[in-house]
Amino acid sequence: MSEQLQWINEAWMQVTKKVNRTSKRIGANFPHASENGKYILEEPYWWTAGFWPGLLWQVYRDTKDDSLRQLAEKCEEKLDSVQHDYYRLDHDMGFMWTLTSVAHYKLLGNEDSKRRALLAANLLMGRFNVNGNYIRAWNPWTEGEDNSGVAIIDCLMNLPLLYWASEVTGDPRFKNAAKKHADTVLKYFIRNDGGVHHIIRFDPESGEMLEAMGGQGNGRDSAWSRGTAWAIYGLTLSYHYTGEVKYLETAKRVAHFFLSHLPEDFVPDWDFRLPDDVDSPKDSSAGAIAACGLLLLADKVTAAESPIYHRAGEKILQSLYKNYGDWEGSEEGLILHATSHFPEGKYTDNPLIYGDYYFVEGLARLKGNKDLFW
Ligand code: GLY
Repeated sequence: MSEQLQWINEAWMQVTKKVNRTSKRIGANFPHASENGKYILEEPYWWTAGFWPGLLWQVYRDTKDDSLRQLAEKCEEKLDSVQHDYYRLDHDMGFMWTLTSVAHYKLLGNEDSKRRALLAANLLMGRFNVNGNYIRAWNPWTEGEDNSGVAIIDCLMNLPLLYWASEVTGDPRFKNAAKKHADTVLKYFIRNDGGVHHIIRFDPESGEMLEAMGGQGNGRDSAWSRGTAWAIYGLTLSYHYTGEVKYLETAKRVAHFFLSHLPEDFVPDWDFRLPDDVDSPKDSSAGAIAACGLLLLADKVTAAESPIYHRAGEKILQSLYKNYGDWEGSEEGLILHATSHFPEGKYTDNPLIYGDYYFVEGLARLKGNKDLFW
């Protein structure tokens, strides 16, 4: 067996062992960050709710372990309450229902899952601002706050739900709204050097761009590494669904920015552009997300370009496995040293469920399973 296949198979074995063990305590719930050895469980309306079931589906696809399938299905059923509680829903419906209902529908053809995912896609469409051509990100976080003009880079990963909805219904409205949002991202979020802004605020009435904001990055002109990773993967997925070369070319530009800022161990700090007096803990989740984007990008570019992206994606995943993986400990969480929200001091050195999810998705891809849940 080649050395390359050996680490991938070994890593997959560790993943299945640990996910099985963790599933006994977590069950059909919604972990987010692991602290003091245990995953903290969130309410199902939190944006991370799709990642644990998504991870269960990734492992189930390979092992056909029915106990994991049942847990993923129960998580999906629990999300029904969120779908009916309209006030809790924001743009992250894409993350939430793609990794639950779309995954379930793609793997097992479940008709209830298709209905749930289409309902989520329709609700996501309802957030589209026709004057600004963006999908509104959040609802007010505090009483009286007006977020109606806010769009964020992460939303690129919510667009596949809309592309998928057009594919299964034959109705182009979903895809066209997704493309309009992606075009807005090209126009306002991606900087010339390939770095990205996290947040853009628009005038929600006229659609005029008002300001760029730092958000989860260090500042307006810093370079939040996870936002950069969302852009690599999200733009590549927009190319995957539309075939429009502008998305591919921009994904490549953002990928080059990301790769040129990686440290020696291939795992990024939480922000690539920090002044000396700001701490720079790692964000392993940004590495895992970018790796998935790079591996898909490798399949979309020419044969001459492909190895650049494939090798980079593989190196990131290998480093995450060897240097960041927690395989023998009794701690919950697969990949250590992720940062959720540095400016708010939230989980700055923890395993995060999305880091775990994308690590496993990337590994599955390296093992040869290229079918996308997205
Ligand atoms: N979508 C929120 C985050 O990346 O933390």
